[in-house]
Amino acid sequence: MRLLITGGAGCLGSNLIEHYLPQGHEILVIDNFATGRREVVPEMDGLEVVEGSVADPVLVDRCFADFLPTHVIHSAAAYKEPDNWLEDATTNVTGTIHVVNAAAKAGVQRFVNFQTALCYGRPSQVPIPVTAPTAPFTSYGISKTAGEQYLAMSDLPHVSLRLANVTGPRLAIGPIPTFYTRLREGKGCFCSDTVRDFLDMSDFLSLMDIVLEAEAPTGIFNVSTGQGHSIKDIFDTVVDYLGISLDQPVPVVPPGDDDVPAVVLDPTATETAFGWKAAVGFDETIRKMLTWYDKHGVSAIYSHLATPEK
Ligand SMILES: NC(=O)c1ccc[n+]([C@@H]2O[C@H](COP(=O)([O-])OP(=O)(O)OC[C@H]3O[C@@H](n4cnc5c(N)ncnc54)[C@H](O)[C@@H]3O)[C@@H](O)[C@H]2O)c1
Repeated sequence: MRLLITGGAGCLGSNLIEHYLPQGHEILVIDNFATGRREVVPEMDGLEVVEGSVADPVLVDRCFADFLPTHVIHSAAAYKEPDNWLEDATTNVTGTIHVVNAAAKAGVQRFVNFQTALCYGRPSQVPIPVTAPTAPFTSYGISKTAGEQYLAMSDLPHVSLRLANVTGPRLAIGPIPTFYTRLREGKGCFCSDTVRDFLDMSDFLSLMDIVLEAEAPTGIFNVSTGQGHSIKDIFDTVVDYLGISLDQPVPVVPPGDDDVPAVVLDPTATETAFGWKAAVGFDETIRKMLTWYDKHGVSAIYSHLATPEK
């Protein structure tokens, strides 16, 4: 493949590069390093990195014209500042349109997009089937949903994967790195009373291998284990892993106004379409992540949810 990856310096993008580069594929990354790290995409044989925004049509067109990709993975997304609607719309809507148009012009064989489960808003059914209506209510969710809908209007052979919380190397946001860091520093924690679905990076990558195949199905799919676990389950696993004994139970607080109590995606249609099923269980997924932090540390913590001061 000649694989163009937008947002290749991010968590998913960099894991995809580590997966596909050693297999001999040529890769070009477009990233503005808004949340991704320059250091994780060093210049090396087979890997070219262009610093810039997908919202810049001249840069996007030049990358497609020079690199001539056969496959595109559109992983770039803005989400860092929940009130920066303009940045979310610029990257997630306008940027997606530029990448879709350029990919269509280049006649790429396959276009893979990543979508957030926040596209479902506050779902009336959990686990959420892929046929559930989209009803996003955050700037990130709204802009990502518009981007996915523009892609769906194109004639590209495309797949949009609505992802559970993918857990693996360099994950630096969310409850796992937050609990790991704070507990090791002896700081207090709290758990929001919410349920999420955690997918191991190895399961995500094994699905990507199938999705990128020429004859694989196209369309929109949920990618998840289908198993919900509470944030308190994660906290308990981290406490156990670190061998800590607590003086008092961790507070479990009601979800905030901008939070969704339970986000668990139903992967049944995906499992049928691709003959794929997540193989790594919850406990192993979390412990693999913690072992990675032991070795490499937690590089940065960004969150679109406010964390109370302790
Ligand atoms: N990681 C998950 O569990 C998860 C879950 C649901 C959806 N997603 C989606 O998967 C994709 C990757 O997520 P991630 O977790 O790797 O996030 P990430 O923040 O680590 O990666 C996103 C990358 O996009 C880059 N970027 C942002 N704006 C850009 C722009 N205008 N032009 C070029 N690059 C830009 C960032 O610098 C970063 O490297 C996103 O589309 C996200 O919405 C991820």
